[in-house]
Amino acid sequence: MGLDDEIRERFKDRADKLAEDVSNLFGQVADKTAPRLFAFMRDHKPIISTKALTVVALAEDVKEVLGDPQRFTAGLYGPKMQAVTGPFILGVDDTPLYHHDHAAMDRAVRREDMQPLGDAMLGYARELVSEAGESIDVVSELADPALIRSIDAYFGTPGPDAQTQARWARDIFWELFINVNNLAETRERALQDAALWRTHLDGLIDVRKAAIGAGEDVPDDVLTRLLRLQDDGEPKFFDIAIRHNILGNIVGWIPTVSNSLARAVNVLLEREDELRGAQAAARDGDRALVGQYVWEALRFSPQNFALLRLCPQDAVIAAGTDRETTVKAGSTIFAGTLSAMHDERAIADPEDFRIDRPWSDYMLFGHGLHTCYGQQIVRHQLPALMTALLEGRPITRARGDDGDLKFEGPFPSGLTVRFDG
Ligand code: HEM
Repeated sequence: MGLDDEIRERFKDRADKLAEDVSNLFGQVADKTAPRLFAFMRDHKPIISTKALTVVALAEDVKEVLGDPQRFTAGLYGPKMQAVTGPFILGVDDTPLYHHDHAAMDRAVRREDMQPLGDAMLGYARELVSEAGESIDVVSELADPALIRSIDAYFGTPGPDAQTQARWARDIFWELFINVNNLAETRERALQDAALWRTHLDGLIDVRKAAIGAGEDVPDDVLTRLLRLQDDGEPKFFDIAIRHNILGNIVGWIPTVSNSLARAVNVLLEREDELRGAQAAARDGDRALVGQYVWEALRFSPQNFALLRLCPQDAVIAAGTDRETTVKAGSTIFAGTLSAMHDERAIADPEDFRIDRPWSDYMLFGHGLHTCYGQQIVRHQLPALMTALLEGRPITRARGDDGDLKFEGPFPSGLTVRFDG
C-alpha cells in the first residue's frame, strides 16, 4: 500500500463524515444558512475563492459563470452521468453531441404537448385531493403519485412500481448533483439503482420496438416517437441513447417538481396573506396567477441554492471590477442562484414577496446553455398541482410534526396539510 492509500484509509471515516455533512448542506441546513451567508457575501465579499472551492453571490457573476461553458464547465456532472447510464446533455457542454441530443429530444417532446401535460396534471391532482379526505401529504400523497402517473403516460416507460421509480430517481439525482464530496455510500446506492433501471428500460425499449415493428397499435408517447424517428432522418437516437435520455429526464423530473411543490406550499403556509391570495387565484381557475405565487415562493426556498461548475483552467471572474478574482484551475464553483435572486443590484425589492415580477427575475431553472430542459413542462405542471391543492377548502398545517416540512437526506419527504371548514 502506497503512502497516499495509507493516508486515505486512515482518514476514510472522517472524510465520509465530512462528505455527509456537506451533502446535508443541500437540504435542511442550507435552507437556514445559505440565505444568511449569501446576504453577508453580497454586502462584504461577493466572491470567495480557494484552490478547491469558489462561491459567487452576485447575479452578474452567477450569470457570467453559467453563461460561459468554455471556462466554467459541467465537468463535475459528466463522468457521473457516464457511470450511471451514458452521456447526457447536462454533462456535456457546447459540443456537437449536446446539440444533436437536444434537437433529437425536441422532436419527441413538443411544444403542443405542454398545455395538455398541465391539464392532465390538474386532473390527476384533483383525484388525489378528493381521495385524500380531510388531510393530504403533499409529497407522498400528491406530488409523487401525480408525477409518476404523468411521466408513465407521457414517456411510456413506467418503473417496476411507482415507489421504486421515485426512489431510483432520487438516489441518482443525489449522486449526480448533491454528492459533491463523493461519499462512497451515496455513489454505490446510485450505481446499483442505475444498473437495475438500465436493464428495466432496455427491456421496455425492446418490447415497444417489437410492437412497432409488428405494426401493433402503440401509444403516441415519447418512447414511440423516439423509436419512430430511427427511420425518419436526423437527428435521431439509437436505442442506447433513448435510454440515457429517458433516464436522465426522469431523474430531472420527479425529485425536482416534488421538492418544489413541498417548498412552495411550506412558504405559503408561513404567509397568511399570500396563502389567501393564492387560494383565491386557484378558485378563480387562474393558473397563471397561481404560478406567480409558486415562483415567488420558490425564490425564497428554491430546490437548489447553487449550481455547480468546474473551472478547468485559471479564469478571471468579474474582470475590471473591484471584486475581480482569479479562480484556480480545478476549483469547484458554486454559482449562487438563490443569492442572485436576492441581489438588489439585479432585481427590485428582493426581500418583498411580489407576484408581479418579470420572469427574468427568476433563476430557478438556471441560466445559459444548460437552462432547464423541462422548464416549460414545470411551468404548466407546478401551477396545476398547486391549483388542485388550493381551489377547495382553506388549508392549514397538520398538527404536530406532520405539519412540518420534513427531509430525508436532501429531499423533502413529507408535509401534511389539513383541509379546514
Ligand atoms: C421544479 C422543477 C425543476 C427545476 C427547479 C429544475 C431546475 C433545473 C436547473 C437549475 C437546471 C440547470 C442545471 C445546471 O445548469 O447545472 C436544470 C437543467 C435541466 N433540467 Fe431541470 N428542473 C426542473 C424540472 C425538470 C424536468 C421536469 C425535466 C425533464 C422533463 C428537467 C430536465 C432537465 C434537463 C435535461 C436539464 C439539462 C439541460 C441542459 O443541459 O441543456 N428538469 N433543471
